Amino acid sequence: MLMWIHPTLQTLALLISLFVLYLGIARFRFAHLGHRGIVFQWKRHVALGTVVLTTWGLFFGIGLGMAWRAWRIIGITQWHFAVALTMLPLIAFGLASGIVMNRLKAKRRLLPLAHGAVNTLLVALALWQLCTGIIILRDMVLV
Ligand code: HEM
Ligand code: HEM
Repeated sequence: MLMWIHPTLQTLALLISLFVLYLGIARFRFAHLGHRGIVFQWKRHVALGTVVLTTWGLFFGIGLGMAWRAWRIIGITQWHFAVALTMLPLIAFGLASGIVMNRLKAKRRLLPLAHGAVNTLLVALALWQLCTGIIILRDMVLV
């Protein structure tokens, strides 16, 4: 039962992240492509984005704990583990840049672009984690 907490919550966060990305794309179109008549749901983007990134970060730890509890070894999931390690600094940057832009509002170009690029990469990596995570469930948890 405990082995399902991490996969379930990380998958839920992944679903929410698609919506957060959709909201962010509206901002990108407005700020960089000059598309008018677009409303960026700023507060919703910040609130849900924070939920997604903190869930991915915190449940990294739960996945690690559960893997240790079950198999007494860290990194047994190989690519899933390696990609998770790569995600950690990106999550920290995504969150920190978002917090800065939310607290200190200003006309910016580079920071929003870097924030958007890193977080889009994170969504792609989380999709990869879903694929490798399903294989772990099939081959290592459900056996
Ligand atoms: C999206 C961000 C994710 C991160 C950062 C992450 C991170 C991790 C880490 C660090 C471990 C321990 C690996 C080891 O020691 O070898 C782990 C285990 C595991 N992950 Fe993930 N993971 C993510 C998403 C997912 C998803 C979407 C699934 C499946 C649908 C999944 C399924 C699993 C399973 C089954 C384990 C074994 C331990 C357990 O069941 O709790 N992960 N993950
Ligand atoms: C899955 C997580 C997230 C994704 C995929 C995401 C994606 C994006 C994208 C694509 C943009 C548009 C960037 C641009 O116009 O060049 C953006 C803007 C923004 N994001 Fe996020 N974001 C995420 C999380 C967060 C978080 C956690 C916060 C705050 C704590 C945040 C705050 C902001 C703010 C304030 C802007 C507007 C910046 C500006 O134009 O001045 N985002 N985001």
